[in-house]
Amino acid sequence: MATATAPPTRLHAVANPAPPAPGHLPLIGHAPALLRRPLSFFEHTRTTDPLVRIGFGPVRLYLANDPALVHRIQVDTTTFERGRFFERLAANFGNPLIASSGAPHQHQRRLLKPAFNRRAVRDHTLAVTQETEARIGAWRPGAVVAADEEISDLVAAVVLRCLFTTQLPAHTVRDIRDTLYAIARRLLARTVFPDALTRLPTPGNRRFAAQVGRFHTVVDTLIRERRAEGPLPEGHDVLDALLGTVHPETGRPLSDAEIRAEFLMLLFAALETTSTSLNWAVFETATRQDVQRRLQDEADQVLGRGPVSYAKLPELTFTRQVLDETLRLHAPMLFTRRTVTDVTLAGIRVPAGSEIGYSPRAMHRAADLYPHPHTFDPDRAGPDQGTDRPRGAYFPFGTGPHRCIGEHLALTLMTTALATLASRWHVRIAPGTTIREANSSLPHVSHLPLIPTPR
Ligand code: HEM
Repeated sequence: MATATAPPTRLHAVANPAPPAPGHLPLIGHAPALLRRPLSFFEHTRTTDPLVRIGFGPVRLYLANDPALVHRIQVDTTTFERGRFFERLAANFGNPLIASSGAPHQHQRRLLKPAFNRRAVRDHTLAVTQETEARIGAWRPGAVVAADEEISDLVAAVVLRCLFTTQLPAHTVRDIRDTLYAIARRLLARTVFPDALTRLPTPGNRRFAAQVGRFHTVVDTLIRERRAEGPLPEGHDVLDALLGTVHPETGRPLSDAEIRAEFLMLLFAALETTSTSLNWAVFETATRQDVQRRLQDEADQVLGRGPVSYAKLPELTFTRQVLDETLRLHAPMLFTRRTVTDVTLAGIRVPAGSEIGYSPRAMHRAADLYPHPHTFDPDRAGPDQGTDRPRGAYFPFGTGPHRCIGEHLALTLMTTALATLASRWHVRIAPGTTIREANSSLPHVSHLPLIPTPR
């Protein structure tokens, strides 16, 4: 029999349960810590233990802390599938194929891929430049600009133009944008809390249902109109791709409701992520004069006074470093998967059907991987840096079969917008403003009032 001092046998190590993440209380688990300060909770879940467990109410979750394990969870599809959180998120949108696992997911991804490849994105760069220039061209020197509103408008207009080539009226773009952000704000709670709670007729649940219904109406109108008009004469946008899709299981074309589900999922995946990241990039630029000066110098050198073009993007290296560092520091709290088989991870036996998560925020802010992790330092993301970091330490767009399909679009949009801003205006945060990190499905800026000065 093993004594307390004997080295653990393999059986002994395998039988050990994962230790709880910090902040665990008897009976109530992590609920108070998670509800009170979710951002800081996830940031502190990364301990020296490669695998810890989190519990809130009936929800039990393993959390991976080790970069190699986090990488494996994303690429090993024989052991891990989409988990409870993503499924519940997708259920709110009508279970789109792009949010599924396995063969249906691959089928849909292949179909959508061409709409997000380099050629398609190159064709949209001019639209980004035009949209950005039109917006910042209307700013008045010294007058406060609500940059968060401007950015979410810009991102919604550009993403909708990519998904749905026909230019939509500004009020439709705004309608979609506002409803979608309102839904996003409630989604996190809806994926975490038990199903029964989300079905109760509370004012919050009723408001959520009304918002989703409103969104359905707008998107259904777009689908109906395109069906009536037929495919676009030149080019092929995401809506055309969806109208031409045959369901991999039924063999029939997608119904309006199925197309709507795909469309909503894409918009949800695209809008809040891109607009939140661009907001943080502009925030960091406005608060760090040294960073802003370098961005401006680069814009002057590469662009002169001309517009950003797709061909110029690779030369905007510092602009890209600012974005890479923004994506490190302002990362989402949690992604999850579910085990499809029994598996031993870091010496701990994890049964099939377990939810297992990883926190980009915790990993991207880990002091052992990033010295002075809370400092915004675009040089740490420079071309010669970061090569000694382990796989799984930096993954702003994920990796493996679910890697972000919109990565190139998002980076093109953000680089173009940031460089255009730097070439035209000097910006600072309006005096007397306190900007907080607000919590939604992504940690986003509470607001961003800027004072622009022409350059
Ligand atoms: C800065 C902006 C963005 C960030 C940081 C981001 C991040 C991510 C991450 C981390 C994932 C992987 C999720 C997982 O592994 O579970 C993902 C997936 C995805 N993203 Fe993005 N994203 C961004 C913009 C976009 C845009 C513009 C689109 C365009 C429509 C988009 C569409 C998607 C889709 C459809 C998926 C699911 C892919 C799949 O499962 O096959 N994202 N994104």
